[in-house]
Amino acid sequence: MRTALVVPAAGRGDRLGASRPKALVPLAGEPLLVHALRRATASDVVDVVVVVAPLGACDEVRSLLSPVVPDVLVVPGGAERQDSVRAGLRALPADVDVVLVHDAARCLTPPDVFTSVVAAVRAGATGVVPVVPVSDTVKRVADRTVLETLDRSELVAVQTPQGFAADVLRAVHEAAVPGAAATDDAGMLEALGHPVRTVPGDERAFKVTRPLDLLLAQALLSSEAP
Ligand code: C5P
Repeated sequence: MRTALVVPAAGRGDRLGASRPKALVPLAGEPLLVHALRRATASDVVDVVVVVAPLGACDEVRSLLSPVVPDVLVVPGGAERQDSVRAGLRALPADVDVVLVHDAARCLTPPDVFTSVVAAVRAGATGVVPVVPVSDTVKRVADRTVLETLDRSELVAVQTPQGFAADVLRAVHEAAVPGAAATDDAGMLEALGHPVRTVPGDERAFKVTRPLDLLLAQALLSSEAP
């Protein structure tokens, strides 16, 4: 029985405003994707790695990653994140029983988050998400008018890696409508009534989305340097 890591890395990164796909944007001299995989594989809980690359960049991604993950499988991504994850799942060997899905953009996620997500799935959970508290007040808005203020004590922000029983995740993705825009995989399980458990996430697992996030990542890396 083996644990696989599927890394959707095929996003364009429009909100970052970079001229390259986001996963290939350099951070301290190395692409975000390389940082993400170094931390993921340092957890020692991953046996198989599938990276879903931007269209036309599979060869580049394979050669970038071969020093970090020599046996990496690289497949081309799709139009939406969900399409990319499904392409990654289809590339998995049959003997994988636990799957982690991890955004390349959460490039500074510490190894121990991977360890605790896998432990929770191996302890019997069908789906597991790392979460952190929400610090802002969150409101539902329509037509620039507030409809409702949500109770912050019940809210969490959800990160990756998200962990799943492989057979359930495969089935959920194969049943989904291609091109639909699910923003995470656990949400697809929830929609079909599967329970999803939480484990503590880590502030360093934030997603590099906008230019300010890249500055924060640079600052964190400099503070880690020996
Ligand atoms: O779009 P967002 O920043 O939420 O993307 C989260 C992750 O999904 C990123 O690592 C991105 O590269 C990936 N993605 C993908 N294929 C897409 C869109 C996003 O692999 N079509």
